[in-house]
Amino acid sequence: MSKEAKLELDGKTFSFPTVEGSEGEKAVDISSLRADTGYITLDDGYGNTGSCVSKITFIDGDKGILRYRGIPIEELAEKSNFIEVAYLIIYGNLPNRAQIENFSGLLTEHSFLHEDMKFHFEGFPAGGHPMAILSAMINAASCFDEELMHWQWGKVKQFDVYVAKLISQVRTIAAYSYRKAHGLPLIYPKKAYKYTENFLHMLFSSPYEDYEIKPEVVKALDLIFLLHADHEQNCSTSTVRMVASSQANLFASASAGVCALWGPLHGGANQAVIEMLQEIHKTGDDGSKFVAAAKDKNSGKKLMGFGHRVYKNYDPRAKIIKQACDEVLSKLQINDPLLDIAKHLEAAALKDSYFVERKLYPNVDFYSGIIMRALGIPMEMFPVIFAIGRMPGWIANYKEIMEDPKSRINRPRQIYIGRTLNSYVPLDDRK
Ligand code: ACO
Repeated sequence: MSKEAKLELDGKTFSFPTVEGSEGEKAVDISSLRADTGYITLDDGYGNTGSCVSKITFIDGDKGILRYRGIPIEELAEKSNFIEVAYLIIYGNLPNRAQIENFSGLLTEHSFLHEDMKFHFEGFPAGGHPMAILSAMINAASCFDEELMHWQWGKVKQFDVYVAKLISQVRTIAAYSYRKAHGLPLIYPKKAYKYTENFLHMLFSSPYEDYEIKPEVVKALDLIFLLHADHEQNCSTSTVRMVASSQANLFASASAGVCALWGPLHGGANQAVIEMLQEIHKTGDDGSKFVAAAKDKNSGKKLMGFGHRVYKNYDPRAKIIKQACDEVLSKLQINDPLLDIAKHLEAAALKDSYFVERKLYPNVDFYSGIIMRALGIPMEMFPVIFAIGRMPGWIANYKEIMEDPKSRINRPRQIYIGRTLNSYVPLDDRK
């Protein structure tokens, strides 16, 4: 029998059931709280609120554990690749040979955008941020598909096709948004290339000459996608679930995820880290002055790429990325002064009592930007790379609530602290 939680309020005792997850995570189920007591819970920033039960990703932030469908991230990073992991996250199991061939075939088949979408790209100004273009174009893609426009849960016949379309086309849109921002002609995907190779091709080839695809570059970028593939109920995934809960279509929900991801406290942090490192480099600081400023709440500065709502230990993805960063820079024979500054910053922060007491460690964004710089990816594309990587996680979460017969629209409550009853004052009588 599950334990019960007791709550004393206004002289009465109320009981609530508890829930335990497969890894021993515990929750008090307060779904009847308001009906029973008239109270709601208040949890600014949702630090203590479980918004759902989920089978996709497990994180133990105190121990620095991350697993997709039970498989440790370290194992997947070493042995798998982004597309296999995307399948695992979305469908729950590693694909067998027939399943992966079918999935890859669907990705290839659906990699082209509707040709008329090219006109939409033309409407964006040069220099427009690719995250704005990405979210707009993912949403706009609904206009070119009858079923997306008239999406009805339970009646969608080929959800797998929409999964493949979204994973494949986000990469095409991302590459086009970069080409558009730089005034370059658009490059179409090629059947011969695998997922990550094709992205590099669409990003960097010219109509005259194909970009030289180096295996170490493909490996590093594929790893970045894989490490970002899911991260349970983070800001953008919760946004996708929130939008999906209204039964909006898959593309509309994913487009909202891109908007949430853009912020510098979330997926925009990889860009913010490089901007911070560049600023430190420009001022000739070895990082010490910046660490001091990051501790001062009045300075307006934070050590970007440090800290996490869930990890109170080293982010396991940051460990993998740090090692990959050293490897790829050495293979490409790149000596980036920003890497030295980053390492210096990390060492200084990890022995500083401010960061130690608050359990602030490097997160996934701390080193990923340095790798992307080394691969020649421009800074404004960093959050876009994150969005491509996160797409399987958003889709899996979308699918999870779509398949849950008990799912209901997400609609939190609030405690109102504004004025009490007030009257309308005619314009001439106002002060
Ligand atoms: N630099 C300096 N101080 C920090 C930092 C930081 N990067 N992060 C947290 N702190 C401080 C806070 O000011 C707070 O101090 P206080 O207790 O004296 O008030 C304390 O550490 C606890 O931090 P919270 O604000 O409670 O952390 P929260 O969980 O709300 O925020 C977040 C997490 C947004 C990631 C935060 O650590 C941050 O802004 N980091 C920098 C941005 C970043 O790297 N974002 C990427 C996150 S990972 C991802 O989305 C992929």
